[in-house]
This record gives sequence, C-alpha cells and structure tokens, in this order.
Amino acid sequence: MTEGKYEIIENTKIAADVFKMHLSGDTSALTRPGQFVNIKITGYFLRRPISVCDYDGTGMTLIYKTVGGGTEKLSEMPAGHTLDLLVGLGNGYDTSRSSSAPLLIGGGVGVPPLYGLAKLLLSEGKKVTVLLGFNRKEEIFLDDDFRKLGAEVHITTADGSVGTKGFVTDAMNGISYTYFYTCGPMPMMRAIAKCAKTQGQYSFEERMGCGFGACMGCSCKTMFGTKKVCTDGPVFESEEIIWQT
Ligand code: FES
Repeated sequence: MTEGKYEIIENTKIAADVFKMHLSGDTSALTRPGQFVNIKITGYFLRRPISVCDYDGTGMTLIYKTVGGGTEKLSEMPAGHTLDLLVGLGNGYDTSRSSSAPLLIGGGVGVPPLYGLAKLLLSEGKKVTVLLGFNRKEEIFLDDDFRKLGAEVHITTADGSVGTKGFVTDAMNGISYTYFYTCGPMPMMRAIAKCAKTQGQYSFEERMGCGFGACMGCSCKTMFGTKKVCTDGPVFESEEIIWQT
C-alpha cells in the first residue's frame, strides 16, 4: 500500500448518479484487478473506498456512484484538482482458477472492477462473458467498453428497458461458463450463490473504515475463521464464504 497525491485528469458523469474519474500518479502498488483505493475528502473523517476499474503505468480509472455528501463532493471536483489516496488496498481477483470460459457478473456500481478483470482474462486467452445487471436503461454504463475489449455482453434490467427483464440470476441459466467472478449488492451475490453451477469469487463492498486492517470495522466470519474484508478480501472464494441468513 502507498499513500500519494493524484491529479484528476477527468471527472465526468457517465450514467445516472455514476461518475468516471481518471487520475494520474503512481500505480506501482496496484497488482491485480479488484483492488481498491481509499480517498481522503476534505471535511470527512473517513476516507471513501472505491474499487479500481482500470490502471496502467501512468494512472488509474475509478467509477463511483454518488451516494452521500462525500461522493457528491468528489463528483464536483474539476480536472487539475489533487487528491490524497491510499493505493493498492486489498487482494484482488485470482485469474488462475477461471479455466477457459469465465463469467463476470456485475450489479450496478459493482461493475467497474470487472472491467480490469475482463482485460486480464482476455489477455490470458480466456473466452470472457459479462453479465451486467441494472435497474433501468439510464443506469447502464461500461457495456460498450466490455464489447470493445472483445467480451460477450448480456444485460438485465429490473424494469425490462434493456436486455432481459429481471435480475442477473434470470439470465445466468442461459449462459455456459467454467467459473465466475462477481461484484455487486449483497442480495444479488446471495442469489448468485444459490443458483451458480460452478465455484467463483465474490467481491464484498462492505463499508470500510481504515481500509488497511487497523480498525477491525470490516471483520466477517468465514469457513477458515474471522477475516477482514479490507485486507483478506475484498475478494473471497465461494468455498470460504459463510452466507448469513
Ligand atoms: Fe479497518 Fe478493515 S476497514 S480493519
């Protein structure tokens, strides 16, 4: 993990309440898709954890939803503004278990980390299928970016305005896959656990405090004892998760 200053290059709205921010700065602490950063926002005690959508040697892209005062303030920051970030937090997705045809399932603001994952899996020669779930047409984002990478994309919307009407679990049965990766709201991931045909990896979007293992605010019980979402996760394998009822 490193702490550093990052300059906002772009901060634009891409869907209803969803913004894409590109930051330039040191990305050497990022090693896998699925890791996150923790952003200091002036006037707020807790940093805001946001998963990394994509990165290269010169900067990173974050996609975030405005869900309160902190992220509202973030959305108003112009290009040229500098932010203080903790970078390289958490363990990301492990692509070694995906086999030949992984399925990536994202719900709402859980979609962004799957972009970097799709890129990596495709570079490893895998056939990548992406299943994205949103409430309505106005909330859809990144679908074209996944297509441009070369992934097959399926969309579900709760109101039926685009793609299959319903939830990602309504479309999962019609897709063949060798393994899955998911990130999204807890009810969605709980439903996926019930209908998945293979093992997979889940990224948990718990609200975090410190983000680096010091406050115990994100502890969870697993098959292998208590773990911290921020340092042992946010990605967990299906075999270790205990789903609370
Ligand atoms: Fe502090 Fe995980 S957020 S220990």
